[in-house]
Amino acid sequence: MFLKASLNRLRGRSILDAKASSAEQLFLAPPFTEEVVEAIRLISTRLPLKADEASRGLWQRESNAAAEAEYEALLPLFEKVDKPKRVLEIGPGFGRSVVFFTKKGLWPGSEINLYDANGTSTKYKQKFYEHPPRWPDTSSFCGNLPLLRAMLDYNGVEEYEIFDAEQLPLAALPGPYDLIYGFYSIGFHWSLEFYLDDLEPLFHERTLLVCTLNKNFRSFPRLEQFSTRFLECREVKKNAHPLRLLLLSKGPLPEVGRSLAEAFPR
Ligand SMILES: C[S@@+](CC[C@H](N)C(=O)[O-])C[C@H]1O[C@@H](n2cnc3c(N)ncnc32)[C@H](O)[C@@H]1O
Repeated sequence: MFLKASLNRLRGRSILDAKASSAEQLFLAPPFTEEVVEAIRLISTRLPLKADEASRGLWQRESNAAAEAEYEALLPLFEKVDKPKRVLEIGPGFGRSVVFFTKKGLWPGSEINLYDANGTSTKYKQKFYEHPPRWPDTSSFCGNLPLLRAMLDYNGVEEYEIFDAEQLPLAALPGPYDLIYGFYSIGFHWSLEFYLDDLEPLFHERTLLVCTLNKNFRSFPRLEQFSTRFLECREVKKNAHPLRLLLLSKGPLPEVGRSLAEAFPR
């Protein structure tokens, strides 16, 4: 038993970057039952997770490391823009980002909407490469809304509303929002090019969209109708290339990170 737990911990250590273990543990993972770990495995496909304390610790460390990397990458931006009053997260999974950002005190008193759906398998990869990309792509749902709610409650997040993506198209959400963000969701697992049509009704002139980009991401003509910047973000996996975050708005953006031309030289 003890040996098994130690091995799991070691495997976890060899997966995560050294800095990942020192991340502030703001997102707290609840005890891992079989049911909880089964749901988490659908989203955290790269971790060897079991229903034990070592796996709970590993997932918590990875979740906080990823959230801290995103927080640090975005801080120069957040310091230069007004505090968003209305925030939407697309594909929050189990809420690691919203918990981390809330506990960091980024948006006290802001209205937070979360948009995800229940799912039983992870199939989004092949869909990302489909041309033309299909949307809505319901096969990409791999969340668990009751568990998301339980994680938020466990972490003491009180003010939020969850919208079920299976029941409600994006355009039906109560926009506009000041900030819309998604990590490892829009722009990563499915095409932002196609998604922009669904997102635009939720924008006002200064809405800020932030999302993780897939390493295969390429610029597309419509992107030039928006202001864009590209930020580097630490990857928590050992020896992995840094991630890129896209910032997009109809209005001007602060001069953080790189421009489209610098990020994608012709
Ligand atoms: C890879 S997970 C990322 C979860 C979380 N953002 C994170 O970084 O840990 C992708 C999430 O997007 C959700 N998702 C997939 N398709 C979606 C859609 N059409 N609308 C909203 N959420 C979606 C999935 O259910 C899943 O929770």
